[in-house]
Amino acid sequence: MCGIFAYTGQNGKDAAKVLLDGLVSLEYRGYDSAGIFTPESGVIKTPGAVAELRKRVPKKYSGKSGIAHLRWATHGEPTKVNAHPHGSGAIWLVHNGIIENFKELKKKLVTKGHAFVSDSDTEILAHLIEEHLKRERSFEKATLKALKEVRGTYGVAIQYKGEPEKLIAARMGSPIVLGIGKGEHFIASDPSPILKHTKKVLFLNDGEVAVLTPKSHTVYKLSKEIVHRMPEELDWSAEEAQKGGYEHFMLKEIMEAPEVVVNTLRGRLIPEKGMAKLGGLEAVAKELANIERIIIVACGTAYYAGLIGEYMLEEFAGIPVEVELGSEFRYRSPVLNQRTAVIAISQSGETLDTLEAVREGKRKGALTLGIVNAVGSTIARETDAGVYNHAGPEIGVASTKAFVSQLIALALFTIFLGRQREMSVKTGREIAKELKALPKKLEKVLAGRKEFEKFAKKYKNARDFLFIGRKYNNPVAFEGALKLKEISYIHAEGYGAGEMKHGPIAMIDKDFPTFAIATKDSVYEKNVSNIHELKARKGPVIVLATEGDKEIAKLADDVVYVPKTLEMLSPILNVVPLQLFAYYFAKGKGLNPDRPRNLAKSVTVE
Ligand code: G6P
Repeated sequence: MCGIFAYTGQNGKDAAKVLLDGLVSLEYRGYDSAGIFTPESGVIKTPGAVAELRKRVPKKYSGKSGIAHLRWATHGEPTKVNAHPHGSGAIWLVHNGIIENFKELKKKLVTKGHAFVSDSDTEILAHLIEEHLKRERSFEKATLKALKEVRGTYGVAIQYKGEPEKLIAARMGSPIVLGIGKGEHFIASDPSPILKHTKKVLFLNDGEVAVLTPKSHTVYKLSKEIVHRMPEELDWSAEEAQKGGYEHFMLKEIMEAPEVVVNTLRGRLIPEKGMAKLGGLEAVAKELANIERIIIVACGTAYYAGLIGEYMLEEFAGIPVEVELGSEFRYRSPVLNQRTAVIAISQSGETLDTLEAVREGKRKGALTLGIVNAVGSTIARETDAGVYNHAGPEIGVASTKAFVSQLIALALFTIFLGRQREMSVKTGREIAKELKALPKKLEKVLAGRKEFEKFAKKYKNARDFLFIGRKYNNPVAFEGALKLKEISYIHAEGYGAGEMKHGPIAMIDKDFPTFAIATKDSVYEKNVSNIHELKARKGPVIVLATEGDKEIAKLADDVVYVPKTLEMLSPILNVVPLQLFAYYFAKGKGLNPDRPRNLAKSVTVE
């Protein structure tokens, strides 16, 4: 994610103050390190967020223009040296996104004598522009040339000491908005830091570059063609701007699912070979080829992702898997050895019970791995190797997009370990192909989100809710119930559809609704039988079904359709309607889904 803010003005305002004040409203986008640069006073960087940066900025630090950044690490640990701005000679820049071909670009630049100080992919871009500047002798031309060589995503703000009043912004996949003031201009990742200076903004599209001075702004395409687009007036509050116009972070994060899938997959699939390329596992690839057993440890939503991972890994990689709650694992006496891999799944990378489970694994000689979203977090540091989710910061306490990215990471793990063993190229290719198709399918699911507002209204008086599913969608039922409990405080239970007869069905009557996951898969018929059983007890049933399944509509009180996908990947599509249902249910009750009572985003105590 990361937050970018840049300023140039001629009204006598101090750029350093404008930038530091503005960064505060971007803190939700990243908070592991921060930095500022003005051509007059130079660069200051630090791990931590804005408060840390303020402590390090001396009183006399100032400027008429400058760039600033809050980082959410993707490549490289969240250290001072990896913090932005990054520079090379007279070029300084701040970046949001991932430069995929950074390794090959770095190699070329090293042969030309460039020396790098950080592990960051961003530093490469500063060197590349500087390299072109030697020949082009124009800041704009050099930047355009460099941007054309870069593959991946970027939202950038760039400054050149030789023309301190000028800023260049560019966008490819990561948001950039320009603030158009009187005698001043701004660049930011979202309008929140701009709005108190001007309401006039111009959103850049992918492939556009803007050149700003205090008095002028010009937008180009990468092909140099000028773009004529009028700025728009925004009447958003700063808070609305942070949420991208959505009412809550939770909804914004649910809506980010397609983008999250793209980001978790980026650069990690070799579809034609049916393989997964996981850089973080390279160092332990040999050990992984020899492991005989996997234990997944996690808590909360991450634990349910683990249960789905168990099904994936056992079916397609043929490795025995157990899934354990961190809080249980650490207190019993698990039997482990060097042929066991302990995989910790954690969004924050800081959940104490999961961390202690990793430590227990280490003590007993197991290979420890992480599927972690927060780069440089304790679990990421203490495990032997791992895969980062690249889902961006998750602000809503109830985890949504992180769950989607955990399932994608587990699917990649499954291909990686499966292809080291018996999985055929054909199966690998099929999974890879379907993974690539998921973002479009998720967009379709999300487009129907208004339906859930209706359901939330219809079922608003329910005091209890049952969620049922089988096989891959059994844990999805658990997750659906957890979401509803967390943010709407009503009693919800997730159950394996087959277990319903062993207890929960006793509770069913006309006031006890069920959300049944019955998409077309290998257990479809069984699920249909269970829905019949619920209907025979007059229980209202909402069914999650596969597009085109008209039969099930006759049986259900309400139906939600999702596109068809591979059974092992179906939880990725099926969980989103359950997240939306919980969101609208809580909202309908007048509750704030972003701030559920009694819950914390990251549980670092027992
Ligand atoms: C808390 C959060 C949950 C999360 C769980 C595990 O309970 O409220 O949303 O799933 O912790 O957190 P982790 O950061 O380890 O994934």
